[in-house]
Amino acid sequence: MDYKPEEALLSAAIDARRYAQAHYSGFQVGAALETSDGQVITGCNIENATYGLTLCAERVALVKALSEGHAVFTRIAVAADTNEPTPPCGPCRQLLWEYCGDIEVILGNLEKTTGRYKLSALLPIPFDRRLLE
Ligand code: THU
Repeated sequence: MDYKPEEALLSAAIDARRYAQAHYSGFQVGAALETSDGQVITGCNIENATYGLTLCAERVALVKALSEGHAVFTRIAVAADTNEPTPPCGPCRQLLWEYCGDIEVILGNLEKTTGRYKLSALLPIPFDRRLLE
């Protein structure tokens, strides 16, 4: 399988920011999740007046992908307009681990990659289904 270059995945995450519903924070985030067959499913953050119902870009991309039948994932790119890397929040790490396993997480801003991690480095001692067996 030919996967897109990292720049193309990050570019898809940057493009996804344009639909961010970030009326409260003004912090637009885009995510691009790559499937094992090379498709790219994007998401953006969706905020709400109750704040607590906010959906992060990563989770939007993940639930879109799962609900469309995608099941195996390789990488996710996350883009925000920050000099420092913008990493997935704790709940997103947990959900990505559940459904994607130890994927590569590419963090970037509008110009370049700012960080690259295996998900296991961001969530080193996960609670997961192995503990329920
Ligand atoms: N946010 C994301 O969408 N992904 C991240 O990785 C970090 C935070 C969103 C949630 C909220 O809409 C805004 O950024 C500020 O926290």
